[in-house]
Amino acid sequence: MKIVKSILEFNKIRNTFTESIGFVPTMGALHEGHLSLAKASNVKCKHTIVSIFINPKQFAPNEDFDNYPKKINEDIEKLQLLNIDLLFIPSNNEIYGDTYSELLYENYMFKILEGIPRPHFFKGVCDVVARLFDIVNPTDAFFGEKDFQQLRIIERMVMDLNYNINIIPCATIRESNGLAMSSRNEYLSFENRNNSKIIFQALKLGVELIDNGEKNVKKIYNTLIEEIKSDPLITLDYLSIANYYSLIEFPNIINDDLIICIAVYMDKTRLIDNISYLSADSSSI
Ligand code: PAJ
Repeated sequence: MKIVKSILEFNKIRNTFTESIGFVPTMGALHEGHLSLAKASNVKCKHTIVSIFINPKQFAPNEDFDNYPKKINEDIEKLQLLNIDLLFIPSNNEIYGDTYSELLYENYMFKILEGIPRPHFFKGVCDVVARLFDIVNPTDAFFGEKDFQQLRIIERMVMDLNYNINIIPCATIRESNGLAMSSRNEYLSFENRNNSKIIFQALKLGVELIDNGEKNVKKIYNTLIEEIKSDPLITLDYLSIANYYSLIEFPNIINDDLIICIAVYMDKTRLIDNISYLSADSSSI
């Protein structure tokens, strides 16, 4: 695995790749969720490029940019065990330069769900992902369903801006108690980590209700909220039952494939998760 920090060095190696290139953008502190994306890229593509860049533009001033976990040596060791061709670790200056410019792209999904408490978040994500796409110029890019709204927004951006890149969704990797893996899980106390299992339990309860024929959004919503509230250590931020493709919430009755998205706080740590229900095979993922 070659490791490069500048676009100049990056291009020298990137330009020798003539077949399919899979790209996995990350912010580091890599766990099995991230690694599953790199593994999926290895299977699909001839070359795999991973980037590690903690993008300041997607953090609000009150968020954890300064304290975001940094584990570059461990990350390199983990990636070295996989069949990665190239690891790109750019500096802030390499990505954003010293002139002020920003991507003007926006779509309706910026303002729903995660976009409500974090109004600048998806602007920052799209800005960096577009810049990385321009540098890397991959054939395929791999994104986790764990961040389902981010996945849908990137798919939409690729369509709107005519990037010739296949966006490949990858299933959420979980801890043994069901907690979706996240770099931020390390902020959780031992007690919170144990209790976090209720998040996925509530999501699975939603699928169970729907599997048993419940279509009334309010009823499902109330049952899930009760389940979450049974744990006093968890504060619900939002729960949403929405169309799987558009992320637009069903007003009353479920009438299409759906995704249940949840965001909670455990102490100051914000956790998100989701589960989908697809009518075609009546199964959840
Ligand atoms: P980061 O949180 O590091 O995640 C990088 C990629 O790993 C994202 O596609 C995310 O959805 C995926 N991922 C995270 N946890 C996962 C899990 N438990 N199972 C499967 N995939 C998982 O998402 C970002 O970074 C940034 O916003 C980024 C896209 C890199 C732009 O800065």
